[in-house]
Amino acid sequence: MQLSAGQTTRASAFTGQRVGVHAVARPGAAKARRTMPAVEAKRVAVLGAAGGIGQPLSLLLKMNKCVTELALFDVAPLVKGVAADLSHCNTPVQVSAHVGDAELEACLKGCELVVIPAGVPRKPGMTRDDLFNINAGIVMNLVTACAKYCPNAILEIISNPVNSTVPIASEVLKAAGCYDPRKLLGVTTLDVVRANTFVAQLRHELSRVWCAGPDSCL
Ligand SMILES: NC(=O)c1ccc[n+]([C@@H]2O[C@H](COP(=O)([O-])OP(=O)(O)OC[C@H]3O[C@@H](n4cnc5c(N)ncnc54)[C@H](O)[C@@H]3O)[C@@H](O)[C@H]2O)c1
Repeated sequence: MQLSAGQTTRASAFTGQRVGVHAVARPGAAKARRTMPAVEAKRVAVLGAAGGIGQPLSLLLKMNKCVTELALFDVAPLVKGVAADLSHCNTPVQVSAHVGDAELEACLKGCELVVIPAGVPRKPGMTRDDLFNINAGIVMNLVTACAKYCPNAILEIISNPVNSTVPIASEVLKAAGCYDPRKLLGVTTLDVVRANTFVAQLRHELSRVWCAGPDSCL
């Protein structure tokens, strides 16, 4: 997931949040964090917002001061409940819910950033090929809609396998004539924070626990 825990992808510049995961204290790390650019993205869409990744990600975006509108999309009607709950959080971000392909246009129009965790996670017995067969089509369809309705948006792909879904997205964008390699990102922060945590555990280093909030940590 793209959420930053002191480790960053460019994606973390958007969420701008440090969340509840362990991050290794490294010399110079704090300085590096402070120098991360905070990019404003007024309208942000999360495609697959009702899922295990989409829901906490949407919450973090709702709390992010760089965001003004949050458009949540999913094929599952549950996304309406997710949006209703998030809209009750006392931050100024306006939340909307969109269900099914017919509402993709309304979701994506005007978006500057689109984050895509839509698809299925790997379940016991599934191979990476099984995952690919399902998620490739989902990502292709969603990126096709992005190319049509928000061709200038930055796209962040979370759906696995990221090393295949990102190339699929790039081919879709190329075919639509709106591919900009600076604006297509695969999100790998989860791997980075996990690796840091496991190495810290092996080295018996003290971990620091980052809280949701730009300047707080325990
Ligand atoms: N890149 C990473 O570091 C990372 C980390 C964790 C999970 N993932 C991947 O993220 C994906 C989502 O994981 P999850 O745990 O949230 O799964 P999940 O099953 O909990 O949620 C997926 C959501 O996508 C929705 N969805 C399915 N098809 C859709 C479509 N065509 N359009 C819109 N929404 C659609 C589902 O209704 C569901 O709400 C998986 O592919 C998983 O492997 C990636």
